[in-house]
Amino acid sequence: MKNMDEIVNYCKENGFAFPGSLIYGGLANAWDYGPLGVELKNNIQKAWWKKFVQESEYNIGLDSAILMNPQVWVASGHVGGFSDPLMDCKDCQTRHRADHLIEDATNVNPAGWSFAKMEAYIKENNITCPKCGSTNFSEIKEFQLMFKTQQGVISGEGSDIYLRPETAQGIFVNFKNVVRSSRAKMPLGIAQVGKAFRNEITPGNFIFRTREFEQMELEFFCKPDTANEWYNYWKKYCMDWLLNYGMNSEYLCFRDHEPDELSHYSAMTADIEFKFPFGQSELWGIANRTDYDLKAHMKVSKEDLSYFDAYTNEKYVPYVIEPSLGLNRVLLAFLCNSLVNIEGRGDVLMIHPDLAPLKIAILPLQKQQIDLAHDVFKKISKYYMATFESSGNIGKRYKRQDLIGTPYCVTIDFDSLEDNMVTVRDRNTTEQLRIKIDDLLEYFSDKFEL
Ligand code: GAP
Repeated sequence: MKNMDEIVNYCKENGFAFPGSLIYGGLANAWDYGPLGVELKNNIQKAWWKKFVQESEYNIGLDSAILMNPQVWVASGHVGGFSDPLMDCKDCQTRHRADHLIEDATNVNPAGWSFAKMEAYIKENNITCPKCGSTNFSEIKEFQLMFKTQQGVISGEGSDIYLRPETAQGIFVNFKNVVRSSRAKMPLGIAQVGKAFRNEITPGNFIFRTREFEQMELEFFCKPDTANEWYNYWKKYCMDWLLNYGMNSEYLCFRDHEPDELSHYSAMTADIEFKFPFGQSELWGIANRTDYDLKAHMKVSKEDLSYFDAYTNEKYVPYVIEPSLGLNRVLLAFLCNSLVNIEGRGDVLMIHPDLAPLKIAILPLQKQQIDLAHDVFKKISKYYMATFESSGNIGKRYKRQDLIGTPYCVTIDFDSLEDNMVTVRDRNTTEQLRIKIDDLLEYFSDKFEL
């Protein structure tokens, strides 16, 4: 696997991702997706939606607003709960999470401790700054992970409002709307893709952890006594999705959360971890959120969010199984997984054809074939994301398409004007086939699913 510097350079050089606001010196850990990056991101999202909404008999979609009533975050436990205990080293001005300092130095997990208890423990155990070795720490301050802004046009006069730190709450607060309007029966999954924002203290590793990111989340509502069964079902479903899109099974594994690392809402969580170049890390979290969220919203909103099963005459608050995946993070995983060096060919992005940013490249060999090549492009681009490249020798052009993962090249050559045939080159095998222009669409019809 390539190292992170190579992946970041590859992305910058080939238009997958650029540092954000670069002409102003950038903004730390903000990335903009370039022409190929946006295609790849859209394709991953489509592939997820296809499997988790279109092909699932249980799931339907939603697109809720990023800005929500602040009471949502009070009920969910994010106001108050979604914060980190931070302390500064006064000597080298580095910032640390107090709970991490304790855990790293003594292997003791301070979950649930007060700030005063953590400060005292750090002093008593002579825990030092990992950077400079000093014990000269500031007191602990609470660091709010949610971005706060104001709603209202006059600065200072609006009401405080948050950018959502997860898309999930938009689903919980719409549970009743969706059930009523779709007449859905349990079990029922509601899926959503959208932006989330977290004031992360330690963003980094390129697009792995950023402050603005996109999530693809499913909240799967079910009868409480079936939750374990569905938890296992969705774990397998998620893993199968990754493998089906070409992830190397050797890079993936499940890791169950220890009881003391579970989120405040979770009874059980398993992460699918991926072996990133910087180490094995969380890719996809699958949690049993129980009835925590619906009950929390019932309490604060005073709305009844329970479900009545007309067949069994039972009324209950559903449990929720939540597979939650970062779109940007899985995009990074797909790139790390697929960018390989092949002897004699150089770097090739061996990505699944459905995810490939461009599907087909139209390559006229000479100026005389450009008009015909344009006609072919017109025909193909109605159905597939295609590109047109007329400069450079053909070997270099194949290399460039290999590098960005284009599964097929269509070369318009010397004879095409005479016989109306073109050469189709397959990225995976490099095999070349001569095909009638009129048969091209039929040839490609079984090559892609999205
Ligand atoms: N609704 C549950 C939830 O948000 P999470 O484990 O905090 O759970 C779920 O996030 C997924 O979202 C993670 O597994 C990861 O893929 C992605 N994610 C979380 N924070 C991220 C960040 N700062 N940057 C990029 N992706 C992130």
